[in-house]
Amino acid sequence: MKPQLDTEQYIGTVTNDDFRSDVVEGLKKSPKKLLSKYFYDEAGDRLFQQIMDMPEYYLTNCELDIFKNKTELLAKSILIDNEPFDLIELGAGDAMKSSYLLEHLTTKNIDFTYMPIDISGHILEELNEKFSRDLPELQVITLEGDYFDMLDRAITISQRRKVVLFLGGNIGNMDLEESYHFCRELRRKLNRGDILLIGFDLKKNPQTILDAYNDEAGITSSFNLNLLIRMNRELEADFDVLNYQHYQTYDPISGACKSYLVSLAEQNVHIGNQIFSFEENELIDMEISQKFSQVDITKLARDSKFHIIDEIADSKTWFVDSIWQVL
Ligand code: AVJ
Repeated sequence: MKPQLDTEQYIGTVTNDDFRSDVVEGLKKSPKKLLSKYFYDEAGDRLFQQIMDMPEYYLTNCELDIFKNKTELLAKSILIDNEPFDLIELGAGDAMKSSYLLEHLTTKNIDFTYMPIDISGHILEELNEKFSRDLPELQVITLEGDYFDMLDRAITISQRRKVVLFLGGNIGNMDLEESYHFCRELRRKLNRGDILLIGFDLKKNPQTILDAYNDEAGITSSFNLNLLIRMNRELEADFDVLNYQHYQTYDPISGACKSYLVSLAEQNVHIGNQIFSFEENELIDMEISQKFSQVDITKLARDSKFHIIDEIADSKTWFVDSIWQVL
């Protein structure tokens, strides 16, 4: 007999219409801009998995070091008297890192529901399969959509104390100003005692950072170009992928690591019945991966009215999981 699945799914809140209007709005801007949250279609999920496997992409290994080797510390800092709670993960992806914590909490018989939120329905399906196979006693509610839409949904479902995980340097996909607004909004939605655990990629040797986003094999390039392919397929667009080049920058002062696509020719592109023209060497702003100093993190916590209760870094101090509480 198959084990009974203790899982629920809420799906499909980001529509093709949202995608189209975000793309059209972004391409009317100067410089043109696309949103990196749309990188993650099925091919994008696969390419991101390949990025995480690259030797240059140190982020995953650093945070894995924390979740694998400091699980007990992590658990201690988010639990209050082993009381029941709900664990919400923003941008869970394959949950590779959080799995160690989930397993630990399950073994300790803690009563909690895991609520992973992700923009990729495809990756959430895989997640459900994985947990019903490997950790069948775990209670899971997957939520497909944007962070805040699904966080609102999670909050209506959960009546217990909440712990929100935001791992992998996902906060880096916002610039400092945006992450401040994000944390403040998150703070507004949480209650006293609730916890937010954020993974920050720290400033380090600038070449190390640039290499992680500018790999020789060109996987990061394909990851960026894949969004053009996705638009061709889902939005009746006609981008010629060979006419765009991935260009990566890192500014060690501001900590902004940014990716662009450069139009290699003067060209017109159709998206449905609209036309967009590109000049030669015109840029599309694709993604930011912001890096933080310890001062940036302390300031972000204070400005958004959280209290830092713990910080757990990897053995190289390249990455830190900072644990904040609403007091
Ligand atoms: C998934 C946002 C953490 O910014 O490091 C990896 C995405 N982009 N290589 C990051 C990404 C290019 C990644 N995050």
